[in-house]
Amino acid sequence: MIQHCPTPTELDDLELLVSGAYAPIARFDEPGSAVTLTLPDGAAEAELVDPEGLPLARVAADGSLEPLTHAQYGPFRRLHLTPAQVREQHAGATFVPVTDALTKAEIDELRGLGRVVLVALIGTGTPELSPVALVRATLAAADLLDDATVVAVPLPSHGDADVDHALGAQVLGNYAGPDRVHALGGPGLATGVGAPSSTIGGYPEAIAAIVEEDSPEPEDQGLVLFFTGLSGSGKSTLARALMDLLLEQGGRSVTSLDGDVVRRHLSAGLTFSKADRETNIRRIGWVAAEIARHGGVAVCSPIAPFAETREQVREMVEAAGGAFFLVHVATPLEECERRDRKGLYAKARAGEIPEFTGISSPYEEPDDPAVRVDTTGRSIEDALHDVLVALDEAGYLHLVGSHA
Ligand code: ADX
Repeated sequence: MIQHCPTPTELDDLELLVSGAYAPIARFDEPGSAVTLTLPDGAAEAELVDPEGLPLARVAADGSLEPLTHAQYGPFRRLHLTPAQVREQHAGATFVPVTDALTKAEIDELRGLGRVVLVALIGTGTPELSPVALVRATLAAADLLDDATVVAVPLPSHGDADVDHALGAQVLGNYAGPDRVHALGGPGLATGVGAPSSTIGGYPEAIAAIVEEDSPEPEDQGLVLFFTGLSGSGKSTLARALMDLLLEQGGRSVTSLDGDVVRRHLSAGLTFSKADRETNIRRIGWVAAEIARHGGVAVCSPIAPFAETREQVREMVEAAGGAFFLVHVATPLEECERRDRKGLYAKARAGEIPEFTGISSPYEEPDDPAVRVDTTGRSIEDALHDVLVALDEAGYLHLVGSHA
């Protein structure tokens, strides 16, 4: 049986299927259900493992799910209780789904409800804050109430508001049993998803601090500047010049992940096959995401010819709380080939270098770059200016004028 590590959403779903939170749904891929699992290469059965390789469950060919171990990792694990545990411990309480930090007004609304269980919905894509900050903020809210407990439930978003609403109601119902579910700020059984977000001013002090720490101002947020373009397009030169400006300005930690340099170290031994290029870019993305997680700036300049892989980098970076800023260095092939500073295009034309980007291997132009620059007939300063203006407008870095 193959081992397979599901996506974050699928892992959340697995936990809820096994805990009984989705009951009566108890397995993936029931007809009409959004709770689905994609196994690699059409496999029908698999052992599902967490990202560290711990076996969590087995899916049999008939779709049935056999739990093996519970996930152990992650902050606030102790708050992940099953519906059965919660119903036993908190019978008679009022259950309140929470997807965002609670405001003063919302906390006031909960006073007078007696015993409340705050159900922090922390699954992939559901909370307005990072999952761990939502739990922290909800615990802080519980401290301000007389009799409140916090339970963390990894209800993920399935990308459709109606589906999310229905699954949320199902899960809440299973946790609350016959007890009351109270939706904040209005009647009905809302999960809080899509509720209007509140301003910092409306939070109690302890919660405001958590919210602010969780979403730094754009200029303090981790940032990945990703230059993509053909060999010889000017990516490395632009990236280098931008790095130097950042270093001159100070105040940020900056790491360069240049294509050629990465291939000498992090990706030594990889070829230029499609699969190896994807591996190369995902490695860059993984490192860049870690840098962003710590609030740093990563300046990447590989060719990165495939749109899908660039998208994966964006996802990794955003999942780490960073901003992803894609610069397409759109210098046309003719110009790159005319420059041919490394003599590689001549060799590629002569058939000496196989799978050369632009000649015998594709380059998929990004259709959604934050900025596009063609360096043909322009100085580096001039081309860099376009990038700096775009960064400035996006609010990430304020370097316009500093290169004069
Ligand atoms: S990527 O496709 O995986 O993103 P990467 O940026 O790491 O490429 O490496 C590109 C550099 O490797 C080019 O600047 C060039 O100097 C060199 N190179 C060697 N062989 C090739 C090839 N077949 N295609 C493109 N670049 C190559």
